[in-house]
Amino acid sequence: MATGTERPQLNTGVHDTSRAAITARHLRTDRWWLAPAATAAGLLAFIVYSTWRAFGNAHYYAAPYVSPFYSPCLAQNCETMKGGPNLEIFGGWWGISPALIILVFPLGFRMTCYYYRKAYYRSFWASPPACAVAEPHKKYSGETRFPLILQNIHRYFFYAAVLVAVILTWDTVLAFRNSDYEWGHMGLGTILMVINIALIWAYTISCHSCRHVMGGKLKHFSKHPVRYRLWGWVGKLNHRHMQLAWASLISVALADFYVYLLASGVFDDPRLF
Ligand code: FES
Repeated sequence: MATGTERPQLNTGVHDTSRAAITARHLRTDRWWLAPAATAAGLLAFIVYSTWRAFGNAHYYAAPYVSPFYSPCLAQNCETMKGGPNLEIFGGWWGISPALIILVFPLGFRMTCYYYRKAYYRSFWASPPACAVAEPHKKYSGETRFPLILQNIHRYFFYAAVLVAVILTWDTVLAFRNSDYEWGHMGLGTILMVINIALIWAYTISCHSCRHVMGGKLKHFSKHPVRYRLWGWVGKLNHRHMQLAWASLISVALADFYVYLLASGVFDDPRLF
């Protein structure tokens, strides 16, 4: 007699754990290739632009703005940036661009980001290119072996990214000056810097590692109400992580390009007051 508490019966037939025996690579009829193609185009455009700028070693400072690609400005040609985090360490060493040293941290943060990993695995390695589309590779070892196991250092890049964001925040405060370093001024560049740092913070805080820092390893949220609240806020931002990843990538390139235009004399910064 049925008691109402029985578990549903499992199918006890032979269970094949391999892929379904479908000869077609996929059965999708939509334009599934559009998203990985657009992602590849966007990432390639950023890689080309940032490589050009990072190796350029010029036109990254136009008082009072410093390019986010070169900040903290550890270069000799930033010596006129009064009040900025300028240590003048690099620039004289074999002519090396200081951006190459600084960019290791924000680029490492983005390269190991959970979202970007998905983006470039799909768009560059087709692993897999889209949902329900078989990948061309015969073997799959995930991120369990070298070199992809190194993606686990993302949590440490998160701390470096927070430090870089703090420095960029200070750069943004310094942007409320004019080219004579007098406070209480604002130009179009100031607005771009503010938008850029807001997006960089939003992207950094929405990181999965940040979410873990806020609410991870707790057994009882009820005993940690502050961390629970912070975890909830970060979780809301985390839902927008992909959008914030792209928005902050575009804003950092735009802020850099704006400084490049000013520094190379294409036009002067329009002053609001
Ligand atoms: S998961 Fe994307 S920045 Fe951490």
